[in-house]
Amino acid sequence: MNFIRQPLALLILGLGGAVSHAADPVPPAHAVDPVHPAIAATKAMDGKAIFQAVCAHCHGANGEGKIELKTPSIAGMPSWYVTTQFANFREGRRGQNAADPQPFMMAGIAKALQPEQVKAVITHVEKMPVVVPTGKDREMAGTDPKEGMQLFQERCMECHRYNASGEMAFGSPPLTGRQAWYLEEQLKRFKSGKRGAIKNDVNGAKMVQMTSLFIEDEQMLRNVVAYIMTLNPEPANEPSKQAVEGSPFKDDVRTVER
Ligand code: HEC
Ligand code: HEC
Repeated sequence: MNFIRQPLALLILGLGGAVSHAADPVPPAHAVDPVHPAIAATKAMDGKAIFQAVCAHCHGANGEGKIELKTPSIAGMPSWYVTTQFANFREGRRGQNAADPQPFMMAGIAKALQPEQVKAVITHVEKMPVVVPTGKDREMAGTDPKEGMQLFQERCMECHRYNASGEMAFGSPPLTGRQAWYLEEQLKRFKSGKRGAIKNDVNGAKMVQMTSLFIEDEQMLRNVVAYIMTLNPEPANEPSKQAVEGSPFKDDVRTVER
């Protein structure tokens, strides 16, 4: 095996050999952040300790996510959704392709932890305060949030609720608290079948269908993300300018409902 070309994170996890196949294209090492050796080798059973030893390296100390690693903000994510995603990562419905470094990296982590550790860290993540996206994590240049609102109200809120707070009964996660670029990326993944198209991914399949039927082009995709961003509370030190005429939040105090 050519160790140099293995993603460093997976080498350290000792997973390189287990998860890559000779025929798979391997992402260049620089595509994957070098991970501290302590990562995922932790024996900790306490959720907070696991978060600090493993997750914080990529998702940030407050679970806020990092644009440079393309990691989502996960603080405050409901445990039912994170449980589903860990199962997806562990069982090859998400992150099964070594050529797609972000989910592949996350799958390596999900597989390296013990089930009791996964449970403990998920409970901790849910308790962390949601981080409101600001700056580069919020801006959507050249978009029309009003157009996005129309699409959202017609096609998305039925599952994700009017305020994008998500609905456990449908398996649809909250879309507030995530970065704009992350939502955009995931919608593109669903639309191209990179996420949600694997057999038995019942919830992912809903999004493959929604994005292929109702999101015609990139502009439309970006518009709906721009609208979702307005459903977040206003960042503490940015002027209030995001309200959209007709939005349920126009005259409201913005709070994230859970
Ligand atoms: C080596 C870096 C890395 C580490 C360590 C890591 N993650 Fe991730 N994680 C990612 C990346 C990258 C993604 C985005 C995957 C994608 O784009 O599909 C992700 C995605 C996720 C998601 C999916 C979020 C969503 O909106 O669907 C959850 C949940 C998650 N991580 C939780 C965790 C937890 C909890 C830990 C600690 C046990 C952890 N991650 C450790 C890199 C990492
Ligand atoms: C039929 C129900 C349904 C509808 C309608 C729907 N979604 Fe979803 N959505 C889901 C489910 C279920 C998931 C979780 C998929 C998974 O478990 O991987 C999801 C996931 C997502 C995600 C990924 C979030 C993350 O953290 O990774 C985004 C973004 C999203 N939906 C946006 C939208 C948008 C925008 C629309 C309207 C165009 C929409 N959804 C319409 C059910 C729906």
